[in-house]
Amino acid sequence: MRTVEYTRHGEAAQVLTLREEARRPTPGSGEVLVRMLVRPIHPGDLIGVEGLPGQPEQQSGARTPGVEGMGVVKSVGADVRTLRPGRRVAVFPAPGTWSDFVVIPADLAVPVPDGVSDETAALMLVNPLTLRMLYRAMKKALHGQTGLVLQTAAGSSIGRLVSAAAVRHGLQLINLVRSTSGAEKMRTLYPSQLTIATCDDDWREQVRRHVGERGVQVVLDCVGGSMTQDLAELLADGGTLISYGHLSSGTTSLEALPLIARELTVRGVSILHWMSRAPRKRAEDVAFAQDLAQNTPDLLDVAASYDLADFKAAIEHARRPAKSGTVLLTTPRTADSGHGAA
Ligand SMILES: NC(=O)c1ccc[n+]([C@@H]2O[C@H](COP(=O)([O-])OP(=O)(O)OC[C@H]3O[C@@H](n4cnc5c(N)ncnc54)[C@H](OP(=O)(O)O)[C@@H]3O)[C@@H](O)[C@H]2O)c1
Repeated sequence: MRTVEYTRHGEAAQVLTLREEARRPTPGSGEVLVRMLVRPIHPGDLIGVEGLPGQPEQQSGARTPGVEGMGVVKSVGADVRTLRPGRRVAVFPAPGTWSDFVVIPADLAVPVPDGVSDETAALMLVNPLTLRMLYRAMKKALHGQTGLVLQTAAGSSIGRLVSAAAVRHGLQLINLVRSTSGAEKMRTLYPSQLTIATCDDDWREQVRRHVGERGVQVVLDCVGGSMTQDLAELLADGGTLISYGHLSSGTTSLEALPLIARELTVRGVSILHWMSRAPRKRAEDVAFAQDLAQNTPDLLDVAASYDLADFKAAIEHARRPAKSGTVLLTTPRTADSGHGAA
């Protein structure tokens, strides 16, 4: 069994290593052993490896990146009645999916609907569940009114899910991307939405011309850094900045934002809090993700696939500007890996 691991924070290509061992973990009561076949490289996985500035090392010992992916149930522990060996499952939250095997509680292994490919299944949970969390936060911030929403990094995998949801729900969305070519791509995909490239010197004026006196009610931001101040200035009084990522390397101090004078709200959203939702609510979210994978798999776009052992090349690809979709790490199927997509 192969496992990618690191023992200290640092540049991913330098601190990650591949370990091979003969031993496989065994599932305890209520758990399943999953032979992993495909797992994504999410920006958050790399932040986990590299740490954030000023963040102390969280624990000693070896850690394995990855929180989601898909595979086949290899064996089940005592008291597991819902899953049998051979079942294709998507897993989340499953710390350590950048390994050939993981052990997780059986109720966190979600059956993959028939007809959904392994690649789509590997992307079925984190981003669609994040979309649900962002959408709820956005609705709350809109207070039941129709208002303008602006999102950054709109060409990202999550950004395109938000754009598709906006079309479905008739939400007025403005997309920001950082390049002219990215803007052209978004305009082709979502012609009804205004897309503006922040490489244009006058991008702020372009937004202001469109929103006029109203201002923007909600900003969904995963870029952060120095752009935060510009985003806050585009908000209407009483508006909300929802922060859910930090793709840029800079920072903005809270004091630099007109929070008090303009009664702005800043709130965070993190998929890591999804488990605190009531089980019934989580089941609704999972059903949404399964439906999305089955009916709109093109929204879970794949940039490229690499063997798990080629994780360094895969990480380099995941960081390439202008890529479209998510980079996957794969484990070859063996005779006992169950059946492919039905
Ligand atoms: N809070 C949560 O629970 C949660 C969950 C999932 C994801 N996220 C966050 O959501 C964000 C998007 O994730 P993803 O998986 O959708 O990403 P992705 O598919 O890998 O796409 C990354 C996108 O970010 C853009 N980008 C990269 N660096 C940028 C910068 N400095 N300024 C502006 N744009 C930049 C890229 O633009 P180009 O096309 O121009 O290269 C690309 O469109 C990440 O910040 C991630 O951490 C948060």
